[in-house]
Amino acid sequence: MSAVSPAIAVISDIHSNFEALTAVLDDIRSQEVQQIVCLGDIVGYASSVQSCMRAVRELACPVLLGNHDEAVCLPTPPTGLNDTATAGIVFASARLSESDRAWIMSLPRNLEIEGIDFTHSSLASSFGWPYIISPEDARRHFDNQPSRLAFCGHTHKPMVWWQESPDGQVTQRIGKDVMPLPPSGKVLVNVGAVGQPRDCDPRACYVIYRPDKNNVEFRRVEYDIKRTKKKIIRAKLPKFTAQRLSVGR
Ligand SMILES: [Fe+2]
Repeated sequence: MSAVSPAIAVISDIHSNFEALTAVLDDIRSQEVQQIVCLGDIVGYASSVQSCMRAVRELACPVLLGNHDEAVCLPTPPTGLNDTATAGIVFASARLSESDRAWIMSLPRNLEIEGIDFTHSSLASSFGWPYIISPEDARRHFDNQPSRLAFCGHTHKPMVWWQESPDGQVTQRIGKDVMPLPPSGKVLVNVGAVGQPRDCDPRACYVIYRPDKNNVEFRRVEYDIKRTKKKIIRAKLPKFTAQRLSVGR
C-alpha cells in the first residue's frame, strides 16, 4: 500500500492580527493536516506584533519572508507605501526584539518543498515584491515556476491561476470552498489573508492542500474582529486599519 501524501495548511498575511491567527490555528487543529507552511507578512498593519511573532515561531514550520516583515527590519520604512502600511511598519519595528529581527532576516523569499513552490508574492522577479493581479502577471510568474504547483499570498485575495501549456492562456478562478486542481499544466494558488482579507469577506482565510484528492480547500474562519479593532484603536494605529477588517477590504 502506498503512503498517503500529507495534507498541508498554507497560511499567509497574518499582519499582527492575533485573534485571526489563533482562530485559524484552532481550525487547522480540527482538520487532518500534517504540515503548516507560512508565506510571510506576519507583522504590519495591526497591533499584536509580539504575540503573532511568538505564535508563528512556535509553530516551527517553514516560514517565508514577506514584504512587511522585510520592511520592519530596514533602518527606515521603504518609500512608496501608503500611510496605513507605513504606520504599521513603524509600530512593529519599535516592538520587535533583536532575536525576532535576526530570525526574520534569516527567512527565505521562496521555498520548494517536495516538488511544490512557495513564495510570498511571485516568482516573476526576485527584485521588489510583484503582485499577481492580471493574467499577464500570472504568466510572468508561471515562466519562472519550475514545479507544477505553487502557492502565494500578498494580494490578500484568494485565487487559483492555471496555465495549461507554457504559451497557453492563463485562466483565473476566485478561490472558494473546495476546488479540484486541473490534472495538467501549471497551477498557482493564492491562499488569501489570515489577518486582513480584501475580498469583501471579513473572515480569516487560509488553504488546505490535499494531494491525495488533488484539491485545495479555501477555509473561512470567524474570529473576534471587535477585539482586534479595539486593540488597533487603543494602539493609536490608523482607524482605517481597524475599519477595513469589518468589511474585508
Ligand atoms: Fe500582506
